[in-house]
Amino acid sequence: MTTSELQAEILRLKKERGICILAHAYQSHDIWEVADYVGDSFGLSQKAAIAGADTILMCGVRFMAETVKILAPQKRVLLSSSEAGCPMAEQISRERLQLIKADNPDYMVVAYINTTAELKTECDVCVTSSSAVNVIRAIKNKKILFIPDCNLGAWVQKQVPDKQFRFVQGGCPTHLRMSVADVQRARKSHPEALLLVHPECQPAVTALADFVGSTTEIIGFAKKDDHKQFIIGTENSIVQHLQFENQEKQFFPLSKDCVCHNMRLTTLGDVYHCVAGTGGEEITLDETTRLAAKRSIDAMLELGK
Ligand code: 13P
Ligand code: SF4
Repeated sequence: MTTSELQAEILRLKKERGICILAHAYQSHDIWEVADYVGDSFGLSQKAAIAGADTILMCGVRFMAETVKILAPQKRVLLSSSEAGCPMAEQISRERLQLIKADNPDYMVVAYINTTAELKTECDVCVTSSSAVNVIRAIKNKKILFIPDCNLGAWVQKQVPDKQFRFVQGGCPTHLRMSVADVQRARKSHPEALLLVHPECQPAVTALADFVGSTTEIIGFAKKDDHKQFIIGTENSIVQHLQFENQEKQFFPLSKDCVCHNMRLTTLGDVYHCVAGTGGEEITLDETTRLAAKRSIDAMLELGK
């Protein structure tokens, strides 16, 4: 079977079986083409709350599928590949967070959405990279305990200087790989290019960027901006997607090492098996965990409007 034949079969099966495919932007282009919606973590959680289908297939990583289940418990939710987790989501245990909270009783716990459902039960509000600044500005409490991504936290702190932040060690191992030396090298090779980076990058890298934003915001900026060349400081799939959609422009990766092996696990073949009923993992959550985790996601959707 060719790629387009497989895609046609996926499109036929998902229609026949009432399946909605949500794909994170880091998925491959052949998956983008069969998805009902492609976006960043915030967009995916908004879609999860309103998707009409009986089954939702999440092509991404585990916390994203859990978010769908938290928001749409009556639906069957499938994760495209069982092995696809986000290492950052596992960096803090629930027990450790309980101890940190006990030491910081007057702090509001703000969690990056890249956390397990279990950890979310201990948090006051979730944020994504695109909603974090707005959500934190809208929070009344001045004291913010931000977990687990210190880089995203540091970037938000710069935009919201009137709040007092505390961080707990953590971060994205993929975005952490990009360094100031990568910026110097890329700027030298492509002096005309703008540098667009994700806020999961180290503060020393974001400080050198021309634009900092979520996956979707980087794509939107590169499409609109008049420059012809861009260096992309996020997962390298975005370089390929941008090149597909903007042939008159040129895109270069900030580092060839910015590859998230978890996001890259899902193949078009996995998507086929999920819609055919022979693959994927059905996500289940006990109701107590789901309801407790939902409070923090609802708070984000409300404050981030
Ligand atoms: P966004 O989807 O918010 O851009 O975050 C990127 C990411 O690393 C998701 O795991
Ligand atoms: Fe997690 Fe980073 Fe991969 Fe996103 S890119 S899923 S934050 S490891």
